[in-house]
Amino acid sequence: MKHIPVMLEEVLSLAKDSVRPDSVIVDGTVGGAGHSVHLARLLGPKGILVVVDRDPEAIERSEKRIREEAPGEYELIAVQDDFAAIPDILKAEGIDAPSFILADFGVSSFQLETPERGFSFMLEGPLDMRMDNTAGPRLFTLLRNTDEEELAAVIREYGEERHARRIARAIIAGMKAREIETTLDLAEIIEETIAPLQRGPMRIHPATRTFQALRIWVNQELEAISEFVESTPDLLEPGGTLAVITFHSLEDRIVKLAFKKRARPELFLPRDVIITKDEMPEGQFDTGKPIRPGVEEIMQNPRSRSAKLRWLRKKRETGDE
Ligand SMILES: C[S@@+](CC[C@H](N)C(=O)[O-])C[C@H]1O[C@@H](n2cnc3c(N)ncnc32)[C@H](O)[C@@H]1O
Repeated sequence: MKHIPVMLEEVLSLAKDSVRPDSVIVDGTVGGAGHSVHLARLLGPKGILVVVDRDPEAIERSEKRIREEAPGEYELIAVQDDFAAIPDILKAEGIDAPSFILADFGVSSFQLETPERGFSFMLEGPLDMRMDNTAGPRLFTLLRNTDEEELAAVIREYGEERHARRIARAIIAGMKAREIETTLDLAEIIEETIAPLQRGPMRIHPATRTFQALRIWVNQELEAISEFVESTPDLLEPGGTLAVITFHSLEDRIVKLAFKKRARPELFLPRDVIITKDEMPEGQFDTGKPIRPGVEEIMQNPRSRSAKLRWLRKKRETGDE
């Protein structure tokens, strides 16, 4: 099992513009430490790397990996928490003014490929889907306590699924009849309900959108993202960068709007730096447009195909236009 970090080269290029050996770096979604292990190598003895993840297993795994693969004298602080709590985490640690803050949303390959976590419609597992599997209601509990109206709204809004009402009705009936106990039971009911309605060649599994919606619901993902993008820009030191990778339009919309609101010339500097990529139209980086993965990366890591990297840089005190 391996989680390939998305747009690693681009993230590191942004980080290098802001980070010094004695900087503070914060990774809000450390996951498998795919980005952090490289970010750590930018730090010297006075540097601090703070890694955060909601998932206790991710914290344990990444702390070990960073210590092994990026040994150094910098300080490593690993915290199991929501990235919405980053301002409080830094305050509690007595740390201020990070030079670089990263968030790479969604689930990791570790979570997706561990059947017991219940994220995958391809692997048999319990109806769980909690990123923090020590707290909060599991998917099963939420489904037992919802109604068709609420569930249809979740599936429509968070999955952008046009057959939301039918799917919700089938799931509620299946739960009542005790026919849905596992992820595969759930995927099957969705497939039976909408596969006959899908026209043309099927490009995605019929359960894809509903599973995404249920995951966002269980973890209240959009609320956390809103809080994160509202609060983190103010934490940055002058010249510091906030970099955010999104994977679907709901996440991206929140980030785009929050950044647009913040990118006032007196506060944040829109940089026109070309950090990659061969096939990008010229000037893409100076207009607030997101950075997309290159063709080669998408071929090597299909998970990256919908990724967008957006970033904000805080103006330096002097010298910046
Ligand atoms: C795509 S993975 C990150 C992968 C990582 N950048 C790497 O390359 O190994 C996303 C991670 O974010 C975590 N996560 C999602 N929402 C979170 C939240 N609100 N607070 C903290 N962690 C969160 C998930 O548990 C998961 O481990």
